Amino acid sequence: MESTENSFLDLPNPRKEIEALSPYIAPLEGRRNLLRLDFNENTIGPSPQVIQALKEISRDEVSIYPEYSGLKEKVVETLIKQNSSIKTTSSEVGIFNGVDAAINAIFHAYGNSNDVMLTTSPTFGYYTPCAQMRGMIINSIPYEGKNFQYPFKKICEFIERNNPKIVLICNPNNPTGTRLSPEKIVEITKLSSKTLVVIDELYEAFTGDSVLPFVNLQKTPNLVVLRSLSKTAGLAGLRIGFAIGNSKVINIINRVTGPYDVNSFAVIAAFAALKDQSYIDSYVREVLRAREWLRTIFEKHGVKYHVDGGNYCLLWPKLGPQLVEQKLKSSGILIRNMDKKQNLKGALRVSIGTIEQMKRFWSVFKTIDKKLI
Ligand SMILES: Cc1ncc(COP(=O)(O)O)c(C=O)c1O
Repeated sequence: MESTENSFLDLPNPRKEIEALSPYIAPLEGRRNLLRLDFNENTIGPSPQVIQALKEISRDEVSIYPEYSGLKEKVVETLIKQNSSIKTTSSEVGIFNGVDAAINAIFHAYGNSNDVMLTTSPTFGYYTPCAQMRGMIINSIPYEGKNFQYPFKKICEFIERNNPKIVLICNPNNPTGTRLSPEKIVEITKLSSKTLVVIDELYEAFTGDSVLPFVNLQKTPNLVVLRSLSKTAGLAGLRIGFAIGNSKVINIINRVTGPYDVNSFAVIAAFAALKDQSYIDSYVREVLRAREWLRTIFEKHGVKYHVDGGNYCLLWPKLGPQLVEQKLKSSGILIRNMDKKQNLKGALRVSIGTIEQMKRFWSVFKTIDKKLI
C-alpha cells in the first residue's frame, strides 16, 4: 500500500476536500491580561447589563436546551430602531453560533463541488477554507491601488461572465477597511439571480454603511447580510451572530445547523446586549474618536499607515513586522502580522480600542520603531 505523510493508512478516508484543507488557524492562546489589539474585539468588554444577566442565569437555563423565542424579533426591532428605512421581519433572520458558523452554513447549503466562489483579496481568512471544504473553485480579485479600492468593475465583469454561486463581500473589509456603497452592492445583486451575494457586515457599526435600508429582501432574494455581537457588543467568547436575508434563503441555510447550536448563555447575553444599545453606541463613538486620534498622530510622525472603515488600521513599521510584533508582545500588546497577506507585505493590523488604550499602544510603538521620532 502506498504510504505518504498525508495518507490516512488504514483509517477511514475523510472527504478528499478535507484531506487537502489548510484549516483557518488563529493564534488565540495566552491572550488574557494583555492589551489585545489583534482580533478587532471590543477592548473594554460587554455592557454591565450583560454581565448581570449572566450572573443571574438559573439552574434551569443550564440543564434544559436553549430557547430562542423572541430573539429574532428583538434583532428586527434593533435594526429598525437604528434605521427606520430597514424593512425586515423575524422570518428573515437566522441565529448562528457566531457569524463564522453562518458563513460555514451558507457554504454547506449552497456550495457544490466545482461551483465558483468569488471574493476579494486580502480579506477575512475564513471564506476560503469554507469554500475549500465544499470543493468549490475560489476566485479572489485584489483590491486596487495604494488605498485598496474595491475592484468593482472586475467583480461585476466576473459575475456576468461566470455566474459564481457565492460572492462574498466583507464591508467594510477586514483588514483594509475598504468600503463599498450600498448602491453598488444593490447593483451587484442584480447581475445574476443565480448568485448568492453575501455581505459580511461585521464592522458596519463603524461606518454606518449597511445595505439593509436599501433593499427589500422579498424582491432581492439573492442577498444575505451577516451581523454579529462579537465585536461591538463584546460577546466574542459567547458566539452569536445573525444572517438576514429572504426567508426562503434563511430557511435553507438553517437546515444545515443543529437545532441547539447556539447556547443559552449566548441567547441571554444577546437579549441583554440588544437591550443596552446605548452602551454599544457609546463604545463605537469612542473607537471612532480613537481612530481620528491615531490618524493625527501617524500623520504628525510620518508613520506609513492605512485607515478606512472598521475598528482597525494597517501600519508598515520601519523595523519590519515580525520584530515589531515580538517587541510589542513583550511589552504586553498584541497586534496581528499581515505580512503574508496579498499586497500587505511588511504590514501590521492594529485593532482600535479606546483613546487611552491607543495612547498606550503609541507610547510603546514609538520607542520600538525609533526611526520615527
Ligand atoms: C469579517 C469578519 N467576519 C466574521 C468574523 C467572525 O465573527 P464571529 O465572531 O461572529 O464568528 C470576523 C472575526 O474576526 C471577521 O473579521
